[in-house]
Amino acid sequence: MTDEEKNEMIVTPWEVKGKVDYERLIKEFGTLPITDELLKKIQKHTGSLHLQLRRKLFFSHRDLDTVLDLHDRGTKFVLYTGRGPSGPVHIGHLVPWIFTKHLQDTFHTRLYFQMTDDEKFVIDDDAQLKQTTKCGYENALDLIALGFKPEDTFIIYDVQDIDLLYDIALEVAKRITYSTAKATFGFQDSTNLGWIFWPAVQSVPCFIHKKLTGENVPALIPAAIDQDPYWRITRDIAPKLGYFKPAQIHNRFLPGLGVGGKMSASEPETAIFTTDTPEIVKRKVWNAFTGGKGTVAEQRKAGANPDVCSIYQYLLFLFEEDDKKLLEREQQCKTGKILCGECKKDLTEKINKFLSEHQKRREKAKDNIQKYDIKR
Ligand code: TRP
Repeated sequence: MTDEEKNEMIVTPWEVKGKVDYERLIKEFGTLPITDELLKKIQKHTGSLHLQLRRKLFFSHRDLDTVLDLHDRGTKFVLYTGRGPSGPVHIGHLVPWIFTKHLQDTFHTRLYFQMTDDEKFVIDDDAQLKQTTKCGYENALDLIALGFKPEDTFIIYDVQDIDLLYDIALEVAKRITYSTAKATFGFQDSTNLGWIFWPAVQSVPCFIHKKLTGENVPALIPAAIDQDPYWRITRDIAPKLGYFKPAQIHNRFLPGLGVGGKMSASEPETAIFTTDTPEIVKRKVWNAFTGGKGTVAEQRKAGANPDVCSIYQYLLFLFEEDDKKLLEREQQCKTGKILCGECKKDLTEKINKFLSEHQKRREKAKDNIQKYDIKR
C-alpha cells in the first residue's frame, strides 16, 4: 500500500480513516459551512460564542439558520444526539456532548439521546447483545456526569425502549427503498437484515417529540459529520410524514494521540478514556505524537509545528478555554520557546483535573440514572 492509499479519507457512519478533509466533506455530503454571518446569528441567541463555535470545531450544518428563524417566530426545537455503545467513552465522545449541554442550557430545550445497543450488535459480527446493552448503561453515566438536566433529558436505550420507537421506525422504513439505502450506506449482498433496517431506528428520535407531547417541532442534531448519511435519508422522508426536516450541526473529530486519524477506542493507547487513572493519562500523553523536532537544540532553533501536534489539538478542543493563552502557546511553540515536554506536562495536569471531577460526578450518576430514562 502506498502512503497515499493508507492516508485515503474514508468517512462513513461506521468507519473513519485517513486524513480528514473537512472542506471536501462539505462538498461531497452537500452540507453548508458555518459562516461568520451564521455565527453572528447564533450569538444573538447565546450572548457569547461557545469555544467550539469560536474555534470552528463545529464547522458545517444543515438548516441551522432555519431552526433559529423558526425559534425567533415561536417554534421551539428539540435536541437529539446519541452514542453507539461499543466500548468505554473517551474524551473525543464528550466534545459534541459538551456542546449539546451548552445548547440545552441556552435554549432551554429537551434533549433526546439515543443509546444504540441494537446498532452496535448488528454491525459487528463478534458483538454480544447483552454486552452492548450493558455498555449503553455504562456510557449513559458519562453523559449524565456532564450535568444535563434530568427534567429535560430523555435517554432512549433502543432494545429496552423499542416499543416506543417501533411504530415510527415502520413509517420511516416503509418510505425508504433498498436502492436508496444501498446508495447511501454502501450495503452489500452480505449485509445482514438487521443492519439494513437499522437506519430507520436512528431516524426515530428526530420525530418522537410529537408522539410524546403532541408538539410538532424540528430536531437539531449536534454530532460528528460521519453521521450525516442518516440525516440525508431522514430529511427526504420527513415532510412525507408531516414532520420538520431534522437540522444538524457537525463537529470535527478529536484526533487520537497518535499520528492522524480520530480518537478511537480500538486504539486504547492513543485514546483517553473517562475512567483512566492519572498514571495512565500521564503515560498516554507522554507517548503522544507532537509536532516537535528530533532534538532540543533543533527545536529551540527552528520551532515546532502545532498544526500536526495532538497535544495542541487537545488544548484547542477542550482544555485551554482562554483564546489568548492558546495563541501564546502556539506562538511559543512555533518559535521554539516552549518544548513538547512542557506542553505534555500542562495537558496531563489539565486532563487529570477534569477527569477527577468527571469521575466523581460519574459515580453519583449511578444513583440518578433512572431519572433520565425516557420511560421514567
Ligand atoms: N450511530 C451513532 C454511533 O454509532 C449513534 C447515534 C444514534 C447517534 N443516534 C445518533 C449519534 C444521533 C449522533 C446523533 O455512534
